Amino acid sequence: MNIDDYKKYMTAEMLMGPNSARILEELLKKYPLRLNEDNTVLDLGCGKGLTSLIIARETGVKVYADDIWIDADDNKRRFEDWGVGKQIVPVCEDANNLSFKKKQFDVLVSIDSYHYFAAEFVFFENKILPFLNDKAVVLIGIPGIKDEYTGRSEELLSEWLGNDAYMFKSTSEWKEIIGNHDRIKMIETWEMGCFDLAWNEWFITEHKYALGDKHFFETLIKPYTCFVGICVKLK
Ligand SMILES: C[S@@+](CC[C@H](N)C(=O)[O-])C[C@H]1O[C@@H](n2cnc3c(N)ncnc32)[C@H](O)[C@@H]1O
Repeated sequence: MNIDDYKKYMTAEMLMGPNSARILEELLKKYPLRLNEDNTVLDLGCGKGLTSLIIARETGVKVYADDIWIDADDNKRRFEDWGVGKQIVPVCEDANNLSFKKKQFDVLVSIDSYHYFAAEFVFFENKILPFLNDKAVVLIGIPGIKDEYTGRSEELLSEWLGNDAYMFKSTSEWKEIIGNHDRIKMIETWEMGCFDLAWNEWFITEHKYALGDKHFFETLIKPYTCFVGICVKLK
């Protein structure tokens, strides 16, 4: 996979924050997916579906693209325009209340969105795990706080994030939040390497929110925050 093949989609119209394609690229390089045509992927909090497009094109499998802010019909139109209308199913459901079949998904991907809804300790076990097949793989990339500042998000980041600062958790906090369960074989959390590149590719879109973020990059975002990578493999 060459993520630069998708450069034409890395625009102010498509991106909703630091470049989701770049975050996905790092997750897939570290944990390549081995899928066959019967497998199914859930892209949870997919936004405008750029990561869903990449997964669909690169793996050939069926992708369910779920997002709560972006209307499913908007995403449907985009997927049809991109020629993947038959392969990607757009869904508009709250991650807290998904209506998929039990064990429907072999892979769950969630980029720059899991922190909005999943910080309750029982969330993974109660709201996600039931929909994952045996041997499923979960790949998550989200903004968080560096480990050395664990527990200090609101103190350090409120000037930039306002009331959302609490969502920024460290790699060690996310490991605890995902928790233990009999079905989990392994969990790894780490600080991702694509931080500068993904932020810069957001800034160069000159989206009005990118310009707002850029204002805080040197003083708050770069010193205190990171992207947290999470991989969970099931038995
Ligand atoms: C910053 S955007 C990122 C979107 C996309 N993954 C990307 O990286 O471009 C966060 C996304 O999380 C989604 N989201 C937030 N809360 C959600 C929930 N409870 N259920 C489903 N999606 C949610 C929003 O709809 C939003 O599109």
